[in-house]
Amino acid sequence: MSRSAAASTTEPAAPGVLVILGASGDLTKRLLVPALQNLACDGLLPEQFAVVGMGRDEMTTEDFRKRQRADIRTFGTRGSVDEERWAWLESRLHYIAGDFDDAGAFTRLRALVDEVGREVGATGNTLLYLAISPDFFALVNRQLDSAGFTRLPGTKRIIVEKPFGRDLASARLLNQSLLAHWPEEEIYRIDHYLGKETVQNLLAFRLANGMFAPLWNARHIDHIQISATETVGVETRGGYYDRTGVVRDMIQNHLMQMMAYVCMEPPESLDPAAVRDAKSQLLACVRMVTADDVACACVRGQYGAGVKADGSPAVAYREEPAVDPRSNTETYAAIRLHLDNDRWRGMPVYLRSGKSLWKRGTEIVVQFRPDTAATGGLEPAGGAAQGNLLVFHIQPFQGVEIRMQAKRPGPTFTLQRAGMRFDYADAFDAARGTGYEVLLYSAFNGDPTLFSRTDFVETAWEIVQPVLDAWAHTQPPDYPNYAAGGWGPRAASDLLARDGRHWHEILNRDVLARTPFFAEAPGLVLNNLLPAFRPLAAAAGNEIVTAGAHDDEMYFVCRGELEALAADGARLGVLREGDFFGEMAVLFDQPRAATVRATSECDLLVLDGDEFRRIVNDFPAVAAEFRRLAEGRRGGREG
Ligand code: BG6
Repeated sequence: MSRSAAASTTEPAAPGVLVILGASGDLTKRLLVPALQNLACDGLLPEQFAVVGMGRDEMTTEDFRKRQRADIRTFGTRGSVDEERWAWLESRLHYIAGDFDDAGAFTRLRALVDEVGREVGATGNTLLYLAISPDFFALVNRQLDSAGFTRLPGTKRIIVEKPFGRDLASARLLNQSLLAHWPEEEIYRIDHYLGKETVQNLLAFRLANGMFAPLWNARHIDHIQISATETVGVETRGGYYDRTGVVRDMIQNHLMQMMAYVCMEPPESLDPAAVRDAKSQLLACVRMVTADDVACACVRGQYGAGVKADGSPAVAYREEPAVDPRSNTETYAAIRLHLDNDRWRGMPVYLRSGKSLWKRGTEIVVQFRPDTAATGGLEPAGGAAQGNLLVFHIQPFQGVEIRMQAKRPGPTFTLQRAGMRFDYADAFDAARGTGYEVLLYSAFNGDPTLFSRTDFVETAWEIVQPVLDAWAHTQPPDYPNYAAGGWGPRAASDLLARDGRHWHEILNRDVLARTPFFAEAPGLVLNNLLPAFRPLAAAAGNEIVTAGAHDDEMYFVCRGELEALAADGARLGVLREGDFFGEMAVLFDQPRAATVRATSECDLLVLDGDEFRRIVNDFPAVAAEFRRLAEGRRGGREG
């Protein structure tokens, strides 16, 4: 049996029986069984282990095994299935059909759990996984209680999945109903973001790398951005999503978890209580958002029709299946928060998340303040305001990056922006998982560190509740206000622009390669360009450059349409995705030859003149191509 490097020094989980309520549903086949198979392959499940599933689908244990055997081929994460380990796991899967309102089914379940537990020698540690809609939580908990599960001998824990309520009031009720049957220490609330290695690494980074600790405060950090953008729309989940929206779906839970890890006080130890106390204390420091804040520091959006990253058409949110055609549910939100404690007072944290955006990516960007006193008079590349950036790449790229200044090779002492990158794939030989492995492993061992405690969940609701309330009672912007496949609503850029900042769009090569000019560009050129680009979202009618003006930037069109106009207003041409403009003024140091105005919503990448000239100097082939195209345009316009 092959064990991954990461697992080779780790002991198998404690013996136990995993009881899955809702075992015939999606979660079991997509995540839980694949995670168990991965744990089995890594030698992290004990011999004394079994699974008992209960679901509404009428089937026998043999049918259940057969179904999982077929599904693991689709949902397993490691390519081919390790047949030996699968046979081991499959022989430990059991199933009983039953309705949640049938008390007899729970009595039978109890008998089966006892029997199976005795068979494998795993009584005394029972994990009850509620893989069901929260609508059934209260009923199922009552039934479990009546069938004696809350009084099982030994240790027992109940795992619940989000959503933990849909607002503060319902979350409190839900918690009360859970706490009526289980003490807090037996309740394990899953936030699957905490199962991500890169999220757990936030803790390692903070606690184990002392060099950053003295800088981790508002004196050295200008602001923090936490972004989770998705390219997918709501797909088949319109019914759920339309009642939910992105604040409830992502910000109240996943983004709050990441903010807590990044900003909490270092806990005294890795003891679960110490870590969870530190996280809750951080949330308690978030300044209450007022109605005025919602108006000026929170942005909501909903996607309209557009084009997906792969070029295929994307429907508007209101046309998605099971979505109300007049829906005002937000599919995008950007929120500015302040943390009122000694460490962070005065420093904003910007959170944003959305569906149907241009890029899938979760990143945390820590923007350090520029330290002009320490630069010895050197002008940093990109201007004096360039502070260092620390980027936690959560997914899909997994790593940590420091964006810094470096000396350019050559006889003069000139600076250039550069990046230092730690890539998980280079450093560790870890097989791809579901993210649930560590969560199941921890739950078996009774380690609640990666699970959300009642106080955390409720405080997170307290933080977003004023936003939800204000949005429920005010007219939303004119939806849709961003195109599917775009960069989100323009108001989100304006929010940061008003603070004198901008979102750090973490570009990756895939995104850049969508612009035809770069499709063939060598990796070195792309690596140089990635940190140099700044995104700019423009609304229809915005003038990007003005004929006769002397400015020093060039632009790439990622999306949308613009028109080039002569000084007399005559239309010189149309610019679309993949085109670029503004290069002539930069290359030939001349005033702008034309006005360029957006005729639709546009997403642009901007390159400062200095960066552009540097890249042109360093990469003669790119320079030749620009010159050829620019000369062609100049000739065309003069001719
Ligand atoms: C879930 C949300 O909690 O997280 C989904 O309900 C979202 O809407 C998903 O797509 C994102 O998870 P990940 O791991 O793909 O970032």
